[in-house]
Amino acid sequence: MADLQLDQLTDRKPVKLEKNGKTICVTRIGNEVFAIDDTCSHSEASLSEGEVTDFKIECWLHGAEFDLRTGEAVTLPANIPLETYSVTVNANSVTVEI
Ligand code: FES
Repeated sequence: MADLQLDQLTDRKPVKLEKNGKTICVTRIGNEVFAIDDTCSHSEASLSEGEVTDFKIECWLHGAEFDLRTGEAVTLPANIPLETYSVTVNANSVTVEI
């Protein structure tokens, strides 16, 4: 069963998804969808409340940025990468593989 509907995701507006005990930040960019751990690796902030620029999401708390494609921490103060998850988009159905 799909986790989300593509047409309900706004471009570069992340949403939080709870699945299989994980909290995931899901972001649509064009017709691609990226999934990354929602909790910043620097402290306890929810990345889905952050801003997306290009393929990076910025943590609202202290400004660390992560690459949505790889989970890499690209801007301090975070320096630990986040886990990313495969996303399957099938017509309008979006499924995060966990
Ligand atoms: S909690 Fe995200 S940068 Fe500090």
